[in-house]
Amino acid sequence: MRHDVYSGYLHPGFRPDPDEFVIAHFLFEAQDKANAAQAIAAESSVGTWTELSTMKPRIRNRLAAKVFKLDAKAGLVSIAYPLEIFEPSNIPQFLSDVAGNIFGMKEVESLRLVDFSIPKKYAKGFKGPAIGMAGIRRMIGTAKSGRPHFGTIVKPKIGLNPKENAKVAYEAWAGGCDFVKDDENLASQRFCPFEERVVRALDAKDRAESETGERKMYAPNITAETNEMLRRADFVKKHGGNCIMVDIITAGFAALQTVRNANIGLPIHAHRAMYAAFARNPKHGIGMLPLARLARLIGVDQLHTGAIVGKMDAPKKEVLEINGEMTRAWLGLRPVFPVASGGIDPTRVPRLLDIAGTDLVINAGGGIHGHPRGTRAGAAALRQAFEAWHEGVPMEEYAAKHRELREALQKWGSRTREY
Ligand code: 3PG
Repeated sequence: MRHDVYSGYLHPGFRPDPDEFVIAHFLFEAQDKANAAQAIAAESSVGTWTELSTMKPRIRNRLAAKVFKLDAKAGLVSIAYPLEIFEPSNIPQFLSDVAGNIFGMKEVESLRLVDFSIPKKYAKGFKGPAIGMAGIRRMIGTAKSGRPHFGTIVKPKIGLNPKENAKVAYEAWAGGCDFVKDDENLASQRFCPFEERVVRALDAKDRAESETGERKMYAPNITAETNEMLRRADFVKKHGGNCIMVDIITAGFAALQTVRNANIGLPIHAHRAMYAAFARNPKHGIGMLPLARLARLIGVDQLHTGAIVGKMDAPKKEVLEINGEMTRAWLGLRPVFPVASGGIDPTRVPRLLDIAGTDLVINAGGGIHGHPRGTRAGAAALRQAFEAWHEGVPMEEYAAKHRELREALQKWGSRTREY
């Protein structure tokens, strides 16, 4: 490959105006970092591997991306993209620019999109969260207390029929859960058709609400082909549902945009199944933070961001950074409620709260339905773990007077804790 094909993209003194440029930050490894950085800028804007007879100065001068920061030692490069190269309101096109061909180029050994910023006027093309964290708190009635929300994923993740599913959901709500959701791989299989599941679960929710005097939420997983998702979202709305869930990565950002743009008026709970295919290798892919920003931009209201103390690889620093970004002001978009999910049991709750605070939906699947005395006791144990933390009482001491928590401690208290 001739070296100078990628020359001219380096602009070390350039200070991009954040109101006019999309700015992307990458971590990368390459034999020749200056050449690779320019190759990234070229391929993600106007360039390719050879000179072009069709290239016009007006195109190159106006639309080429600019490498404005390059730290070869740390392997960090920051690139500015003129806003004109982005079609408004089009996330797939955004990704085809800043996160497209570049990951597979021979010039780079590894490449990771670590963060990006966008001009406010570009953000205006996206709807953002319709309800957001504050809206969900108002729905459940926790705006004043600011306590975390407690949730569960019905388990086993697939296999229960709609009646069994509703019974498990009811037990979870009755035991103290605010929120019940389907699992990521439950859609509308023969053993649990979507419509019947939703109708039965919503009946169970009504019953739990009138018995407990608390407001509850159910997030049926609508993930499917795009038109079918819209149909399912509509079905949930028509039957009095108060949330929908989408597997945002497997469904795709365009599909998520379609759901959000339909203005269903229900909070969107975003599960991130498959995100680790992009984000787990710390040197390559797309980090969870940029994925979370895209989800917020499109308009999810609750987003799985990592449990820190759970079963999935979710480094504390990274999760806290993402939660911080999701809940702080950004481009005028409503804050998103971070969800800690995956491998949480009641005994892990105090530590999680110490680390991550209370602006959190704490979801436990196995950690509730695996309780020795079943789902209702598991949900109660989760709430008791919070109460112990809230009152500043050590969990073991609180458990002496709270049977469900005591049983949870007996079952899970010895799980390793290296966070
Ligand atoms: C999720 O949706 O995050 C997982 O299904 C959580 O399940 P678990 O609490 O049993 O790990």
